[in-house]
Amino acid sequence: MFPTRSKAIEIITDSEKLNPGPWVRHSFLVAECAEKIAGACWLDYDKAYVLGLLHDIGRRFGTSHFGHIVDGYRYMSSLEYDEVARICLTHSFSTQCIDEYIGNIDVSKLDFNEFKEKLETIKFDDYDKLIQLCDCLCGVEIMNMNDRMDDVKKRYGNYPENKRIANLELKSYFEKLSKENIYVIISDNKELWGL
Ligand SMILES: [Fe+2]
Repeated sequence: MFPTRSKAIEIITDSEKLNPGPWVRHSFLVAECAEKIAGACWLDYDKAYVLGLLHDIGRRFGTSHFGHIVDGYRYMSSLEYDEVARICLTHSFSTQCIDEYIGNIDVSKLDFNEFKEKLETIKFDDYDKLIQLCDCLCGVEIMNMNDRMDDVKKRYGNYPENKRIANLELKSYFEKLSKENIYVIISDNKELWGL
């Protein structure tokens, strides 16, 4: 289950009051990109928008790294939005490998192992893949994926090569589904198009 668009906007607006920051603008951008790509691929664009909007909702509880995954999953589960909870977990793991998390593991070993097990049992669907892709296309603006990954590398000191490859494969996957260039679908910025 996932909330309606208006309920999702209400949730993120409330969350912004608890922890204002660029993550809110990023979340709206991810939602808009997910909606556009979903629309081009005959997926449910309302669902894509809502999942994109709430993928980082764990950030309402404060600044954290791995913790935002656990907090988001549990918060969405408490509201019975299981499809969003799943995205709170899967959006950071295009390689499905929890050990490749970029950032601090600021949760207990018990929580880490619980979420490792959860992640391993999920078979990624198009919505998991879509939000992984859009998270990699958006900072607080739409970016070239390679620039975004380089930026993450600069900030955190590393970016696993297989994660980079997996993210670029996601782009190819949705370009095959939509038969369009992803940057053309999501942005008017012709510099990004590379055509
Ligand atoms: Fe994100």
